[in-house]
Amino acid sequence: MNTLQNRLDEAGRIVFLTGAGISTESGIPDFRSANGLYSDPANLNIFDISAFLADPRPFYRFAARFLKVMENALPTRAHRAIARLQGSHDVTVVTQNIDDLHQRAGSRTVWSVHGTLAFSRCVKCGHRLATSELHPIIRRGEVPYHACGGFYKPEVTFFGESLPQTDWLNSQKAIEEADLLCVVGSSLVVYPAAALPGYRRRGCTLVIVNREPTPLDPEADLVIRGDAGEIFKNIK
Ligand code: APR
Repeated sequence: MNTLQNRLDEAGRIVFLTGAGISTESGIPDFRSANGLYSDPANLNIFDISAFLADPRPFYRFAARFLKVMENALPTRAHRAIARLQGSHDVTVVTQNIDDLHQRAGSRTVWSVHGTLAFSRCVKCGHRLATSELHPIIRRGEVPYHACGGFYKPEVTFFGESLPQTDWLNSQKAIEEADLLCVVGSSLVVYPAAALPGYRRRGCTLVIVNREPTPLDPEADLVIRGDAGEIFKNIK
């Protein structure tokens, strides 16, 4: 994709805004593709905060399956290409994803606007711990309880919750200062994250790499319809 390579080489400050589509090559399903998580109606409320607080059992039955997929997932060709670009460019990653594939690929500046699975907090007393300490319980599909009687919730942004302020503000700032914003693997339908491209300045190049059309395509300078791994595999 020499056009993409040319655009990247011309840019100084690059921001990648990534969604679940950048990780599907690793085996982690996205949400809204035909075979995505939400194609199973049972998953539609999985990340709904009121449903979770009312009954965390469905979430943790899902989490047992998701944890197994996550543990076997490796950074994709696109994650690795984005990390490689740090050698020659000022690169910031803004991700909606809760997997840690960007960090594991070597990206150093990653803002996670939908939080992260790395830590969990008791919903009753706020006790915080590394989610890995709960893995034995989560693998069994059971709800992890704290000694105080409350249960744990991963620090992922559920629908109905506000986004992590630090990550949001840093994402907004990076996009405001970017010369090129490249969206990779997102349907751009979930707000407020889908509003982030709106913070780009006049003159910032917008590139969208996605398998399916997005609402932002008409505003893009370059739309590359296809598989992120294939498109990024030779990018350097
Ligand atoms: N290459 C390119 N695009 C891909 C690939 C791939 N290999 N696989 C999937 N896609 C595209 C799909 O066509 C889809 O348009 O990635 C997009 C993924 O969209 P969603 O499933 O909606 O995921 P995302 O945009 O990240 O969702 C945003 O919604 O459920 C919430 O909090 C959750 O962060 C998530 C948010």
